[in-house]
Amino acid sequence: MMRGLILAAVLAVALGTDYNATYNASPIWKVFCPNYIYHGRVDSLVNPGNYSGHIHKVFGGNHFSASKQERSFMQVYGITRRSTCTSCSLREVDNSNYWTSDLYYQWPNGSLSLVPNSGLTVYYLSRGGSTGANRTNPNWQPIPRGLRMLAGNTLRRAPDNSSDSKAVSYYCLTDYNVQAPLEQQTFPTKDNFCKNGLRAQVWFPMCWNGKDLDSADHKSHMHYPLNYDNNPQGGDCPNSHPVRIPGIFVEHIYSVDQFPHGDGTRQPFVWSNGDQNGNGFHADFVSAWVPEVMAAAIAHPNCSNDNPLMAFGNRVDQCPPLAPFVKDNYGSNVDCQLSHLMPTTENLG
Ligand SMILES: *[C@@H]1O[C@H](CO)[C@@H](O)[C@H](O)[C@H]1NC(C)=O
Ligand SMILES: *[C@@H]1O[C@H](CO)[C@@H](O)[C@H](O)[C@H]1NC(C)=O
Ligand SMILES: *[C@@H]1O[C@H](CO)[C@@H](O)[C@H](O)[C@H]1NC(C)=O
Ligand SMILES: *[C@@H]1O[C@H](CO)[C@@H](O)[C@H](O)[C@H]1NC(C)=O
Ligand SMILES: *[C@@H]1O[C@H](CO)[C@@H](O)[C@H](O)[C@H]1NC(C)=O
Ligand SMILES: *[C@@H]1O[C@H](CO)[C@@H](O)[C@H](O)[C@H]1NC(C)=O
Repeated sequence: MMRGLILAAVLAVALGTDYNATYNASPIWKVFCPNYIYHGRVDSLVNPGNYSGHIHKVFGGNHFSASKQERSFMQVYGITRRSTCTSCSLREVDNSNYWTSDLYYQWPNGSLSLVPNSGLTVYYLSRGGSTGANRTNPNWQPIPRGLRMLAGNTLRRAPDNSSDSKAVSYYCLTDYNVQAPLEQQTFPTKDNFCKNGLRAQVWFPMCWNGKDLDSADHKSHMHYPLNYDNNPQGGDCPNSHPVRIPGIFVEHIYSVDQFPHGDGTRQPFVWSNGDQNGNGFHADFVSAWVPEVMAAAIAHPNCSNDNPLMAFGNRVDQCPPLAPFVKDNYGSNVDCQLSHLMPTTENLG
């Protein structure tokens, strides 16, 4: 009841927001998802009503389900919005679901062990267009109701020059006192021991065609900015996909330090989709944001990288439009369970 009242009050203010207003040049906030709500093969984006070929961990709103092929995007949005809790730090305004693959360690005898992972960190940010007037993001809009998308390609096994390939990167957290290797596109674990874990990261595309909430490949309705390859966080949107939405960047840290590696002999990690190079890393996103609240956040000068109190997006309580929905900045005390039983062996028919 109390939460509903807060949301209603925020909406009453936010609805007055003009989506075409000049937005703040460098908004930033992070959503922390310490715990997953589902671990298995259900994938409502790529395989609605069926199983995916591989296992992943799903974070966010507790109404995640196998879904059904005949459900419209707006029906799924409505169901996901009505989640009664989320496993992430921003409650009520963001009931979105985010998911990524599982990582395994392959022993010399071929057997596999699941690599434990800490929670997901989701960044919402943008550096805007290239220069000048476009730095204030012409035609920038909040993520529309019902949008979903995929970043990365589960079938990719070698880096290529596509933006989608360049969107995936790894950071080997060697030791906080030691110079870490640069971010790279393939697993960096053959030659480096990642003492503090391996961070797998992917950027979602941030230019939308303004019409379609999804597409057959879950990608064509979206596009990366034109000079993305030189500046992954910036660049203008192409005319075909003129609507800029906040850039979503996902980080997932895997505890590879629990397994022997880094002696220069072999790369022992493998994604649940069978990828041993790392280029098949991908993430899925099904939005269940309240766009009016997101619009207010990207317009507010304090929800910005330029505001030191935001601490690079860690202190979402310093962003006035989002602050009422922050119980705890890092989501450490969030307790949320899937609203229904959904074992990996469930009969989805
Ligand atoms: C915002 O821009 C769109 C597209 O250019 C236009 O159709 C709409 O009328 C504008 N809204 C306002 C409030 O100016
Ligand atoms: C589910 O996936 C399996 C394997 O890919 C396929 O054979 C089957 O036809 C799918 N079922 C539906 C209802 O799409
Ligand atoms: C393979 O090696 C691992 C690590 O030494 C061991 O735990 C596991 O039992 C072995 N599996 C088989 C099938 O031998
Ligand atoms: C801003 O972007 C638009 C659309 O891509 C482009 O036509 C315009 O020249 C850009 N303006 C500046 C100052 O870069
Ligand atoms: C990517 O582009 C660079 C520069 O044009 C080229 O040298 C390289 O071979 C390309 N890589 C792939 C995998 O196509
Ligand atoms: C905005 O941030 C500044 C510090 O950068 C702070 O002094 C001010 O109180 C904040 N305003 C609001 C409305 O939170």
